[in-house]
Amino acid sequence: MATDYIVKDIDLAAFGRKELDIAETEMPGLMSLREEYGESKPLKGARIVGSLHMTIQTAVLIETLVELGADVRWASCNIFSTQDHAAAAIAAGGTPVFAIKGQSLEEHWDYLDKSFMFPDGPNMILDDGGDATLYVLLGARAEAGEDIIPVPQSEEEEVIKAQIKKRMAESPGWFTKTRDQIKGVSEETTTGVHRLYDLHKNGQLPFPAINVNDSVTKSKFDNKYGCKESLVDGIRRATDTMMAGKVAVVCGYGDVGKGSAASLAGAGARVKVTEVDPICALQAAMDGFEVVILEDELATADVFITTTGNKDVIRIEHMREMKDMAIVGNIGHFDNEIQVAALKNHKWTNIKEQVDMIEMPSGNRLILLSEGRLLNLGNATGHPSFVMSASFTNQVLAQMELWNNDDAYAVGVHILPKHLDEKVARLHLKRIGVKLTELKKEQADYIGVTVEGPFKPEHYRY
Ligand code: NAI
Repeated sequence: MATDYIVKDIDLAAFGRKELDIAETEMPGLMSLREEYGESKPLKGARIVGSLHMTIQTAVLIETLVELGADVRWASCNIFSTQDHAAAAIAAGGTPVFAIKGQSLEEHWDYLDKSFMFPDGPNMILDDGGDATLYVLLGARAEAGEDIIPVPQSEEEEVIKAQIKKRMAESPGWFTKTRDQIKGVSEETTTGVHRLYDLHKNGQLPFPAINVNDSVTKSKFDNKYGCKESLVDGIRRATDTMMAGKVAVVCGYGDVGKGSAASLAGAGARVKVTEVDPICALQAAMDGFEVVILEDELATADVFITTTGNKDVIRIEHMREMKDMAIVGNIGHFDNEIQVAALKNHKWTNIKEQVDMIEMPSGNRLILLSEGRLLNLGNATGHPSFVMSASFTNQVLAQMELWNNDDAYAVGVHILPKHLDEKVARLHLKRIGVKLTELKKEQADYIGVTVEGPFKPEHYRY
């Protein structure tokens, strides 16, 4: 169908294509999968619904899935993260995509629904944050007469319920049928992976899942080195504020927190960290960051960034204490890290897209980025292509595993085998001129590995 898409402006396709061509040169993992599997088409027959930020890098992922034989339909997993020229290029290339930067929440769930509408229904999900999986599972629950369970982002709950009810009225039984023909899901991010483990623990996961996030070549690269580049990029594009000399507080020192703290420190900010986990707190301290309590920094810090994947980390009582023109933003998956809803009855002045100034009762103003949604994708263009190539090579391998090698994956949450993780890394070495030393046979025997790898035991933490 020629118009089976919703994008901001299809005329942006030519610009999108030019940037896609450049991105391809920085995504060696995806391009070598095209070379290796473009002819054998291992994803033939797969009908993949994708729910992941519709960026230029994602466009290269989509075209790789298509080149490997899949039918694909796509929606973004965040209302602010779409790059409209990337969406236009994908639509113009014939893959149905439903994503506009700045779409409403209602549109977000409607577009997700549209991405499921293969004539014969989808049989695979590629998810980021779990919305696509959540949609089909909640709908199937509702069809079974159960309550539509509360979801983590409570302000979205009503919107999701309304969308599910609409689909149920239009196509009775659709959710159950769709759930039953899904062969598996590959999940991109920490927050989505938490949801999958929870679902499985509660006996509610009906199909196998691959946790792409915990491939070493995903979380130890995208979450860390990706945020190292894209956090300050987002703050700068939003505010043009001088970073050097400013005091920045990073809440959370997991993979994203490590990258974020490094990003700010690299820009010359004086960085402080809050943590709940003693191991991560000790890491932050030994990386040279002061580890503090948020409450002690409110009156003096200039920038506050949440990276926890947790809720209510920066609360209204915190924001009331912040100094005039403090910058507040989140780089975790959902917007519930900051209590944005509690600011709704304050005076908001929109500065530009995804940048708001909010007047607090004290008269102090806050600069809020992307309404508390992940600012590296809302205010900038997310991570650079090279690191996303590693993430998305894992995604493609995960889809191939679930589609072709399903005997190996029972219902549950799995991680890709280490030899594939090492393969992803290997595919990225040449582009940056890395020369790998080869083990001698005797050396390999001595440390208990083979010359070809895997080189580490499963419990090794990198
Ligand atoms: P992680 O689990 O490695 O790190 C989160 C850290 O936050 C943990 O060390 C935890 O102890 C700490 N934490 C939890 N509650 C806290 C609190 N109240 N105060 C201070 N610290 C607290 O998770 P990861 O991989 O760093 O991901 C964090 C979030 O970022 C997730 O929502 C993930 O989905 C998202 N993400 C976003 C990306 C982006 O480009 N914006 C990229 C990758 C992940």
